[in-house]
Amino acid sequence: MADFIVSPGLENVVVAETDLSLVDGQNGVLVYRNHWARDLAIHHTFEEVAHLLWYGHLPNAEELKALVEALAAQRELPAHIQSLIDSIPADVDMMSVLRTAVSAINVSGESFPPTLQQIIEVTAKLPTIIAHRYARLNNREPLAPRTDLTHTANYLYMLKGEQPTAAHVRALDAYLILTQEHGLNASTFAARVVASTQSDLVSSVTAAIGALKGPRHGGAPSEVTEMIEAIGTKENAEPWMRKRLEGGNVLMGFGHRVYRTRDPRATALSVVAQELAKDDPWFDLALHVENTGLKLLQEFKPGRQLNVNVEFYAAIVMRSIGLPDSLFTPTFAVSRTVGWCAHILEAAQMRIIRPQSNYTGIMPE
Ligand SMILES: CC(C)(COP(=O)(O)OP(=O)(O)OC[C@H]1O[C@@H](n2cnc3c(N)ncnc32)[C@H](O)[C@@H]1OP(=O)(O)O)[C@@H](O)C(=O)NCCC(=O)NCCS
Repeated sequence: MADFIVSPGLENVVVAETDLSLVDGQNGVLVYRNHWARDLAIHHTFEEVAHLLWYGHLPNAEELKALVEALAAQRELPAHIQSLIDSIPADVDMMSVLRTAVSAINVSGESFPPTLQQIIEVTAKLPTIIAHRYARLNNREPLAPRTDLTHTANYLYMLKGEQPTAAHVRALDAYLILTQEHGLNASTFAARVVASTQSDLVSSVTAAIGALKGPRHGGAPSEVTEMIEAIGTKENAEPWMRKRLEGGNVLMGFGHRVYRTRDPRATALSVVAQELAKDDPWFDLALHVENTGLKLLQEFKPGRQLNVNVEFYAAIVMRSIGLPDSLFTPTFAVSRTVGWCAHILEAAQMRIIRPQSNYTGIMPE
C-alpha cells in the first residue's frame, strides 16, 4: 500500500495553474492578471475589474456599458427566492441565508459548462439577497434594486434606503475590488473542487459561501471592530492587547497565512480609510491600536513579521460607510463571488480534483 506525504492544510501544495492572480506573500504583492490590484482599486470600478477577471482584459467603453447593464438587468429576485428568504427564521445568520438563497437561483441555460451569462445572473443577485434579508430584519419593506446605479452604489442604496454619497461608493468599490480575487484561498478552492466535477455554477458558488462563512476565513473584520470597541481609549490599548497576548490569544486583523510582509490590500485600503475617516476620533483610535499591536507583536513573536491584514482596514472602511458588523462577511461574499466565478470557469476545463489520504485505521483480518 503506497503511503503519501501528508501536507496539513495543503500548505505548499500546488494544485492548479491560473491566469487570474499572483499572491506573493514574501514581497507583499497582489496582481490580477497583468495589473497591480492596488492600482485597480484606485483607478477602476467593480464592474471593470470583474470584466478583467472574467473576460481577460479591462473593458473598453462599449464592453463596460454592456456589463454594467447586464448586471443591472439581473438584480431582481424571483418570487420564489423572496419567499424562501422570508421563510427562514430571524435568528438564522446572514451567511446561512445567503448560502440557502443562492442555492435556489435558477440560472438560464445548460447546467454545464458554466456561462458568463450565468455568472452575471448569480453575481447580480447576491447583493439583493443580502439587502432583502437585512430590510426584513430591520422591519422594513425590501427596496427594489435600481438599474440606474452601479453594482456597488445599488448595494448601498438597497441597504440604507437612500442614494449613497460618491465618497462611500468609491470607498466600498475599492474594498470590493481588493477582495474580488486572492488565489486558492479556502472558499475559492471549494468552488474549484465542485466545478472540477462538472457540477453547475450555482453548486460551486454555494460551496464557496459555506467555506467563507467559517471564522478562520471570512469572519475577521467584525472581530476587528469588536476589539477596537472593547479597547475604547488609547490608554487602554496596550494593557488590553498585552493581556490578550499573555493569554495566548491572537490579535484580530494582524497576521496572514501567506503574507510575510504588510498585506498589500491593507496598504491600499489604508489610503481609502484615511480619506474617509481622517476626522473621526474612532479612526485615530484604530491607528493607535494598529501601532500598539505591531509593537507588541514584535515583543511577543520576535522575528515573525506580523503585520496588519486587509481585514483591519476593511473594518475601518465598512464602519465609516455605516455598514454594521453583521454585514461584513456577506459583503466580502459580494466581492469574492467575482473571483470564485472566474476560477469556476478555469476549473471546469481541468482535471477533477481528487487528492489522496493515508489510511490510519486497522486492517480487517
Ligand atoms: C491569519 C492567521 C490565522 C494566520 O495564521 P498562521 O498561518 O498560523 O500564521 P503564522 O504562521 O504567521 O504564525 C506565526 C506565529 O505568529 C502567531 N500569530 C499569527 N498571527 C497572530 C496574531 N494576529 N496575533 C498574535 N499572534 C499571532 C502565531 O500564533 C504563530 O505563533 P507560534 O509560532 O508561537 O505558534 C493568524 O495570523 C490569525 O489568526 N490572525 C488573526 C485573525 C485575522 O486577522 N484573520 C484574517 C486574515 S486575512
